[in-house]
Amino acid sequence: MTHRVFSGIQPSGTMTIGNYLGAMKNFVKLQETADCLFCIVDLHAITVPQDPQALRQNTLNLAALYLAAGIDPERATLFVQSHVPAHAELGWMLQCVAYYGELGRMTQFKDKSAKKEVVTAGLFTYPALMAADILLYQTTLVPVGEDQKQHLELTRDVAERFNNKYGETFTIPEPYIPEVGGRIMSLEDPGKKMSKSDESAGAYISMLDDPAVIRKKIARAVTDSEREVRYDPAAKPAISNLMTIYALCADLSLEAVEQRYAGQGYGPFKKDLAEVVVETLAPIQSRYQELTRSGEVEVLLRKGAERAAEKCANTLQAVKERFGFLA
Ligand code: AMP
Ligand code: TRP
Repeated sequence: MTHRVFSGIQPSGTMTIGNYLGAMKNFVKLQETADCLFCIVDLHAITVPQDPQALRQNTLNLAALYLAAGIDPERATLFVQSHVPAHAELGWMLQCVAYYGELGRMTQFKDKSAKKEVVTAGLFTYPALMAADILLYQTTLVPVGEDQKQHLELTRDVAERFNNKYGETFTIPEPYIPEVGGRIMSLEDPGKKMSKSDESAGAYISMLDDPAVIRKKIARAVTDSEREVRYDPAAKPAISNLMTIYALCADLSLEAVEQRYAGQGYGPFKKDLAEVVVETLAPIQSRYQELTRSGEVEVLLRKGAERAAEKCANTLQAVKERFGFLA
């Protein structure tokens, strides 16, 4: 069976190497064998305040970055969520299937709403829209980082609840979370996820950081006591995180990285790590510059939205009938 793959990324500014290694790199691999849809989830982005001009720019930039990273628009369907109204439609309907209690247990909601003066209703119901994104396409596999696991479980629960009540309608999707790289940690605090919303830019490497910036951030990245390059996430979380980044960028196993730096200490390892990251990002960055100048991104997104709308029309129609909406 060929898999139907769906995943989404929010157009909310910089993409980090965590997004790349945890999610986007796998998207590129999956498009070889599966029928893939990749979505820029602008409806999700507005659950927190956004500047309109910045959102427009971030949406285009993220599309260019997907393409620069290797998403082939002939093979995979790349589109913007708000261009396909079915997402908002099914999103509403699934808000009426998801329970208030289960949405309140989502850790991403708890984190994002903590200490905020205002919290929108949309931030709370966000996972119902994410469930709609996935379920609209009879998705079998959802490649995401570790932080999205709970949302995937909710998606499965909502789909099963709907199927049990109204009859088989939705395919139950499986998460696809990489064993290595599913959770890249901050360079300044290995107890924290690497996040583009970190106040300190030294905590993350942006996919668009200059080589000089990358070298500086890696040189300053925290390490652990001792001097041994050894993979041990519990005892040596900082160096284990850097080793994970190395292994994924260089396409090596963690053991191979360990062997390469046996007896050498952190200095040479960090120096090489910076080069490996620069080499991984440089070709993406130059393609990105070409694409943002070309003006072809918007055309591709429109085509992608048309294809996506065709692919989800039957499911949306079936759900409306199941609910008992007049034809
Ligand atoms: P977001 O930027 O929150 O829309 O996330 C886009 C994708 O990147 C999701 O699949 C996340 O799970 C994944 N992701 C975000 N941060 C990390 C990280 N630090 N490590 C691994 N994956 C991540
Ligand atoms: N919630 C995801 C994140 O914050 C983004 C997302 C929205 C998504 N819809 C999705 C991911 C559907 C996978 C599938 O990263």
